[in-house]
Amino acid sequence: MSKLQGRKIALIGGAGFIGHNLALNLAKLGADVHAVDSLQVNNLGAFSNSHDDANKSLYLHFIHERLQLLQAAQVPLHVVDARDYHVLSRCLNEIKPDTIVQLAAIAHANRANKDPYSTFDHSLRTLENALDCARGLDAQFIYFSSSMVYGNFDGEAVTEERHCEPLGIYGALKYGGEKLVIAYSQVFGLSYPIVRPSALYGERCVSRRVGQAFIESVLRGAPLSVNGDGSGALDFTYIQDLLQGLVLCIVKDEARNQIFNLTYGGARSLKQMADIVRGQFPNVEIKYQPRDVLMPERGTLSIEKAKRLLGYSPQYPLEQGFVRYIEWYKQLSQMHPRFFGSERVHA
Ligand SMILES: NC(=O)c1ccc[n+]([C@@H]2O[C@H](COP(=O)([O-])OP(=O)(O)OC[C@H]3O[C@@H](n4cnc5c(N)ncnc54)[C@H](O)[C@@H]3O)[C@@H](O)[C@H]2O)c1
Repeated sequence: MSKLQGRKIALIGGAGFIGHNLALNLAKLGADVHAVDSLQVNNLGAFSNSHDDANKSLYLHFIHERLQLLQAAQVPLHVVDARDYHVLSRCLNEIKPDTIVQLAAIAHANRANKDPYSTFDHSLRTLENALDCARGLDAQFIYFSSSMVYGNFDGEAVTEERHCEPLGIYGALKYGGEKLVIAYSQVFGLSYPIVRPSALYGERCVSRRVGQAFIESVLRGAPLSVNGDGSGALDFTYIQDLLQGLVLCIVKDEARNQIFNLTYGGARSLKQMADIVRGQFPNVEIKYQPRDVLMPERGTLSIEKAKRLLGYSPQYPLEQGFVRYIEWYKQLSQMHPRFFGSERVHA
């Protein structure tokens, strides 16, 4: 980890869920980390301006906590809209990073399908600008892709070599983004790894993916709402495991110009996740809803390549990571019961 000492790392989207957790981790390891974020997408601006989000006060609390933690760790926050090439370029030229991590995006498949225009803008325009800045700075570039590039999994654990057949706007843009990163490498010699995470969960997330929705529903006395019959499985990954993989991508030469699945490496069903919640909160009711046909049927991502080339070794099966996350929510609900008044249950 000595390679991280004093290494300048700019995280575009660095005040988001993954970004701020990564910033805190890298700062702890001695890196000179900078968070670059507009605070507008799935962040402070979006929640401050929303009128009807039942979670507005809870998620604003999480976001304020992120900002406080970044400040306490002395991670500078540059409030910059990465869609603006000149502003981003000025900011990065001042930082002069050795590594740029491109996280900024509309990070939600169903939001991307509902609002493709904004998704192009925040996911592709920001990438284009970040790539061009990285080329000028000769910085290592880490691109956040997704397991959604694969489309439907075919039952086997998907390896990075499997053909990609994305379904919907989010996956298609991520796949297109990967191709752009590779093109910059071919044309300008950009050094990159591309990472494909999946189904993350962890502290201070505001995306309300399935595990988070389960916990919040229970804390509000509402039933768990499961899409489909509960057999759908995802490679749920605790944020700390992803952070381990990302640090390895930054420091290991073997990561250069490679694509890595970075997940726990074993799919678990929604039913299994719901059972873990039930283990913590007995008598919880489960309701089944029709599944979204535009969500690919996913499963396990093979992490053999990351293990072999990087020494990646995830530590948190669902029974540990998710239970830790539940404990964190339990403590929060004891300290701030006002966030967990009863929930509107959608039929
Ligand atoms: N969370 C997951 O499960 C998951 C899984 C696979 C891939 N990813 C990818 O990882 C990345 C980060 O995801 P996340 O969960 O942290 O999302 P997030 O929404 O919490 O964070 C994204 C951050 O990017 C910022 N941003 C967006 N547009 C911007 C712009 N124009 N200028 C500056 N900042 C901008 C937002 O303000 C936000 O803070 C995304 O690219 C996402 O697609 C996430």
